[in-house]
Amino acid sequence: MSVIILTGFMGSGKTTVGEELTRQLSGRMADTDALLEAEEGMTVSRIFQEKGEEYFRERETSLLRRILERDKVRQDGRQGHLILSTGGGLPLKAENRRLLSSAGTVIYLRLRPESVVKRLQGDTTRPLLQGDNVRERVESLMESRQKAYLEADIVVDVDELTPAQIAERIREVMSI
Ligand code: S3P
Repeated sequence: MSVIILTGFMGSGKTTVGEELTRQLSGRMADTDALLEAEEGMTVSRIFQEKGEEYFRERETSLLRRILERDKVRQDGRQGHLILSTGGGLPLKAENRRLLSSAGTVIYLRLRPESVVKRLQGDTTRPLLQGDNVRERVESLMESRQKAYLEADIVVDVDELTPAQIAERIREVMSI
């Protein structure tokens, strides 16, 4: 079992690229935001609103542990690929980064701030990007996160690429 982990800022296409990769590789997919929403029975926005970001971050780590434990990645005799799409803030915790890097290949989908702003215009599902001054917020959040994201094994610049092209690029680099 090989594990391919997609990280990156909101709007970088982690879920869409994950779905594309899963299709191309006939793999299995897990998405931390979707799983958390299912477990909590509410949207990410609502979790932030009702329980706060700190609670969300704790649940993210506990979920991550369970996903990677369940798959017992390297000891698992099964063939195939697990593609894991992560929430944009997940790699910020050192513990999460350790879990990710020991579980598989971490791929950072890097996007320029202007592309984020363009892609997420009118989006209401990202609690961290609501309100005014979105551009400034994106820039400062990205700046403060860059170092954590760059601990990935592979960086793909995704601004000009379609999800299918990104998936192909990843397969090329990983020779799969
Ligand atoms: C977050 C990104 C979101 C979601 C939550 C927090 C972040 O996921 O986990 O809103 O801190 O960057 P996406 O990256 O899938 O939008």
